[in-house]
Amino acid sequence: MAVDSASSPVATPPSGPIPAVALENLERTYGDVVAVSGINLEIADGEFFSMLGPSGSGKTTTLRMIAGFELPTGGRVLLHGKDVTAVPPFDRDVNTVFQDYALFPHMTVGENIAYGLEIRKVPRPERDSRVAEAMRMVRLEGFETRRPAQLSGGQRQRVALARALVNRPRVLLLDEPLGALDAQTRLVLQGELLHAWEDHDMLVLHVTHDIEEALLLADRVVVMTGRPGRVREVIRVPVPRPRDLSSTGRSELVALIRRGPLILGQIDVDSDMIDPFTNAEEAEIRAIADALAVLL
Ligand SMILES: Nc1ncnc2c1ncn2[C@@H]1O[C@H](COP(=O)(O)OP(=O)(O)OP(=O)(O)O)[C@@H](O)[C@H]1O
Ligand SMILES: [Mg+2]
Repeated sequence: MAVDSASSPVATPPSGPIPAVALENLERTYGDVVAVSGINLEIADGEFFSMLGPSGSGKTTTLRMIAGFELPTGGRVLLHGKDVTAVPPFDRDVNTVFQDYALFPHMTVGENIAYGLEIRKVPRPERDSRVAEAMRMVRLEGFETRRPAQLSGGQRQRVALARALVNRPRVLLLDEPLGALDAQTRLVLQGELLHAWEDHDMLVLHVTHDIEEALLLADRVVVMTGRPGRVREVIRVPVPRPRDLSSTGRSELVALIRRGPLILGQIDVDSDMIDPFTNAEEAEIRAIADALAVLL
């Protein structure tokens, strides 16, 4: 089924008995402000999972609780079956690329990327080869000795990504990693992100405002509601990979889906423009469009 009911206690992951990330009735309040409430989610190892929701719907707060930078006021966080609710960030096999990807300004690109390995006392030769690999992955070769101030926004974002990838985390949290970039750079980095995810056996939990980006990248998308942040729907994206917006008819439909119910009446499923859809696929697409209505 494409849409897991928001009222079910736990959204079912696609496979595996022990989810990589499980959130149980997670809640965070700040004084009178309920930032998130009643979050129940299970995300499988190796899954690409996007979190979509309006500003203030608790996306960053949820990520920070998974990473351990924020203590929940209710509920639990489990990583690979272990309750880590009170475990500090450095004892979790989780890496985060934050919304404001603060790089160390006084360090070079290479030093920024190597930092996590240095802290963990990874021997020099291994450190160097892993830094080189991470830089290759995000196409930053040749920039090793530059400082952040000498880079473009997109290049800085690549450094932030490489700084997380170099640690080979089992869980990678990305808080709007491509939010500040122009459309062209976004496309390139989306591709690089997918390659990195395919090459490593890791779960990516990716926060975005951008419906098209979520549908392009994710296996499943959780749609959050605003104030307080709650799970509205968990949607499985029914489009096979690779999802190239320009090449196949189905992908064209993904681009249309972002306009949600507004275009429902306009999708002609018998049109020459797209491959024919089965009734089940069409029902899934309509369910997705309905779920996304909250964002429009
Ligand atoms: N430290 C804090 N103190 C008080 N309120 C906070 C704090 N951090 C977050 N909030 C509130 O919690 C709610 C959720 O914030 P959060 O940053 O998680 O939203 P978000 O979904 O990431 O938004 P955006 O898309 O704008 O990044 C907001 O109402 C915010 O004002
Ligand atoms: Mg945020």
